Amino acid sequence: MARTLSGISRYLDVALEASVIGSFTRVGPAARRRLGHWKPPSPTPGRVVVITGASSGLGKQAAHDLADLGCTMVLVGRDNARLEEVATALRSKGSSVIVECADLSDLSQSADLCDRLSGQLDRIDVLIHNAGALLQTYQLGPQSREVTLSVHLLSPYILTSRLAPLMASDQPKVITMTSGGMYTEPFVLKRLEITPEKYRGSVAYARAKRAQVVLNQALARREPMGQRTFCAVHPGWAKTPGVSESLPTFDKLLGPLLRTPQEGVETLVWLSTLPEGEPESGLLWLDRQPRSPYHLPKTKVSDETQVAEGNELISWLDEVTAPFL
Ligand SMILES: NC(=O)c1ccc[n+]([C@@H]2O[C@H](COP(=O)([O-])OP(=O)(O)OC[C@H]3O[C@@H](n4cnc5c(N)ncnc54)[C@H](OP(=O)(O)O)[C@@H]3O)[C@@H](O)[C@H]2O)c1
Repeated sequence: MARTLSGISRYLDVALEASVIGSFTRVGPAARRRLGHWKPPSPTPGRVVVITGASSGLGKQAAHDLADLGCTMVLVGRDNARLEEVATALRSKGSSVIVECADLSDLSQSADLCDRLSGQLDRIDVLIHNAGALLQTYQLGPQSREVTLSVHLLSPYILTSRLAPLMASDQPKVITMTSGGMYTEPFVLKRLEITPEKYRGSVAYARAKRAQVVLNQALARREPMGQRTFCAVHPGWAKTPGVSESLPTFDKLLGPLLRTPQEGVETLVWLSTLPEGEPESGLLWLDRQPRSPYHLPKTKVSDETQVAEGNELISWLDEVTAPFL
């Protein structure tokens, strides 16, 4: 169960959060593990977990950790050989694993993936949108949509919508892996699609990650009571192939301060294994505590605006992904 910190523990946790570096590096989980008296996540035998981006970094680590807790893992990625490598390692430990290949920059592949999953699964207990990348150059997918947006937002929206019938009982969870990078950007729908001339990878990434959090809140508000629980989580800063490739200087500078992949996915794994209906829907998590979606005044909006932004985003997503829903 999600445990609320109180007294000095709460004060220290908030101070750590305000420091950003302390919070996002491996200092964060090291301190908070003690402050919150973390217990290991509970085994959840037979829970069916679909995770995207399972071929590398955080997704691969989460697949291992959840399989070790007894979950049946459905591994989604774009490279079959890399996925099979992860699947073989999990099967050698006795886990039940399904592999599904889809490039999430192609919306028709995301729709086909939903058809295949619907054909072979009778339920999904946890859907984890983890796939992601910070792309230094502007790239268009087959539907002429910018890839950062397709992978982080459009394809997850297709999966969340199309797989809803498989998530109809026992209050399953939809968990989105966002990023602390989103704290730097406000949500502005008309600035979500960046033109090639104005494209900067870190900005496109931060805006897409901000939009994931806005969507998480909006979907939680719209979901009828007793149905799916929505969570956004960010991993802090963890050493993964993605970080080494896209942010080599950051990787070198922070080096030993970066979280291990296991520290990066600890809260994702813990959220995935909470009982049905937990935690409260629509929140953003880091290190087992809900966090404010705002660090900077320029990004903060009122509750009313937040609701309006969420509605605006869903209307736009419905329009853009309509052929694939
Ligand atoms: N590491 C961090 O410090 C950090 C911080 C904040 C947020 N995150 C988020 O955590 C998630 C995992 O990142 P990571 O650090 O583990 O990076 P990573 O090692 O590069 O893993 C990213 C995963 O996403 C997959 N992927 C990327 N583009 C895809 C596409 N078009 N279709 C299907 N799959 C695709 C990759 O597949 P391939 O193996 O084929 O490349 C890989 O499995 C991302 O959403 C990232 O934004 C990470």
